[in-house]
Amino acid sequence: MLFASFDLVSALATLAACLVSLTLLLAVSQQLWQLRWAGGRKAPTPAGLRGERGSCFQSSRREKYGNVFKTHLLGRPLVRVTGAENVRKILMGEHHLVTREWVFSKIFSHEALESYLPKIQLVIKDTLRAWSSDPEPINVYHEAQKLTFRMAIRVLLGFRIPDEELGRLFEVYQQFVENVFSLPVDLPFSGYRRGIRARETLQKGLEKAIQEKLQNTQGKDYADALDILIESGKEHGKELTMQELKDGTLELIFAAYATTASASTSLIMQLLKHPRVLEKLREELRSKGILHNGCICEGSLRLDTINGLQYLDCVIKEVLRLFTPISGGYRTVLQTFELDGFQIPKGWSVMYSIRDTHDTAPVFKDVDVFDPDRFGQGRSEDKDGRFHYLPFGGGVRTCLGKHLAKLFLKALAIELASTSRFELATRTFPKITLVPVVHPVDGLKVKFFGLDSNQNEILTGTDAMLGATV
Ligand code: HEM
Repeated sequence: MLFASFDLVSALATLAACLVSLTLLLAVSQQLWQLRWAGGRKAPTPAGLRGERGSCFQSSRREKYGNVFKTHLLGRPLVRVTGAENVRKILMGEHHLVTREWVFSKIFSHEALESYLPKIQLVIKDTLRAWSSDPEPINVYHEAQKLTFRMAIRVLLGFRIPDEELGRLFEVYQQFVENVFSLPVDLPFSGYRRGIRARETLQKGLEKAIQEKLQNTQGKDYADALDILIESGKEHGKELTMQELKDGTLELIFAAYATTASASTSLIMQLLKHPRVLEKLREELRSKGILHNGCICEGSLRLDTINGLQYLDCVIKEVLRLFTPISGGYRTVLQTFELDGFQIPKGWSVMYSIRDTHDTAPVFKDVDVFDPDRFGQGRSEDKDGRFHYLPFGGGVRTCLGKHLAKLFLKALAIELASTSRFELATRTFPKITLVPVVHPVDGLKVKFFGLDSNQNEILTGTDAMLGATV
C-alpha cells in the first residue's frame, strides 16, 4: 500500500517535471523563433505574392504583432494585415494577369458604361416605383439584393427574362449564395446538397438564357458584358464553351450582387440619417439643371454629367469608407518576405484588411463620423496616399467592376433624391452586422412614397421639414 502511494507520488512528480521542461522548451523555442523573425535580416522584395482567393475565414486563434495578426484559414496560417504601408506592400507585389484585365477593361470601359446607363436608370426607376406603390414598408437590404441581381441579369448580361422567371431565378440564386460556403458534407437536407442543387438549377436557367441570346441577336442597341466576353474570345481565336460562358456569367453576378446591394442599403440608411446631406444633394442636382420641379430633366443624365457631380461623388465615397462592404482580400504567399519586422513564410495566406485600414487611417479626421465633405475640395482627406482608402481593394486584383458599381450607386442616389420621399418604419435605426457583407440586422425597414413636383417644392430648404422623413 505504502509502495503503491510512493509509486503514484513519483509518477506525478515525473509528470510535473516533464510538463515544466516542456513548457520551458516551448517558451525558449518561441522566443528564438520570434528573435529569428525580428532579427535584422535583409527584407526580401514582396514579389512573391499572387492574387489567389481563399474561402471562408476561420478566426480561431489570433496573435497580435502590431499591424500584423496571425490566425488560421482552414488549418493554414493566415496573416491579417492592416495599415496603408503594409497593405501597399502586399498589393504592389502581385503578378500581372494581363489577358483577364484586358477583357474586363472592355466590359467596364467608358463607352460600355455610357451604353449601360439608360438601362441602369430604367431598372432603378421601375424598382423605386414598385417600392413606392407598396402600402407596407419594404426590407431595403432584401430588395436591394433583388435590384442588383436584376441589374446584373438585364444590363450586364442582356438577358430578356420575363419578371416572373427572373423572380424564380433570384430565389434559386439566393439559395446558392446562402450555401456556397457550407461544409462539403453531401448528406440529404445538408446545406452543401442544397447549394449543389441550386447551382445546377441556376446553370440550367443561365444556359437557356445564353442560348436564347446567341440565337436572337436582332434589335440590340448596345453590347452588354456577355457580348463583349463572347467577342473577345473570338478575337483571341478561342470560342468560349457553354461551360465557360456559364462560369463567367455566374462570376460576374456573384461579384456584383452582395457588394452593391450592401452599399445601396448603406446609402439609403445614411440619406435617412442625414437629411441635410440629401438636401445638399438635391441642391447640386438643381444647380446642374438635372432636377427641376421634382423631375429629372429629359436627357440630362449622361455619364460625363454624373461624373461631374462633385458632392454626389463625396457622398458615395463616404458611404464606401464608413460601410465598406468587403472586409478585405486574400493572397497566398509564394515567396517568404518581411512585413512590419516579421517574416511571412511561403505557403501562408495573407488577408489585407480594408475595414481596419479605413478605421485606423490617420488621414481621416473624426473617423467614425459620416462626413462626405471630408472628400470635398479644400479637405480631400484621401489625397495623402492611396492605400488609406481602398473600398475596391488594390493592386492587379482590384475590383474590376468599380466604375460600374459607383455609377449604379450614383444613379440610385440621383433617382432617390429626385423622385422619392422615404421614411424609417422602425422607431430606431437598426444595428449593423459585418457578415457576410455589411448590412443592417433587420434589413432596414423603410416606407417609400412617390415624390411629385408639388411635394418636392414643399420639402425644399427649411430645417423644420428635415426630420426622419426625407
Ligand atoms: C460597391 C460595390 C463593390 C465593392 C465594394 C467591390 C469590392 C471588391 C473588392 C474589395 C474586390 C477584391 C479585391 C481583392 O481581392 O483584392 C473585388 C473584386 C472583384 N469585383 Fe468588385 N466590388 C463591388 C462591385 C462589383 C461589381 C458591380 C462588379 C461587376 C459586375 C465587380 C466585379 C469584381 C470582379 C470581377 C472582381 C475580381 C477581380 C479579380 O479577382 O481579378 N465588383 N471587388
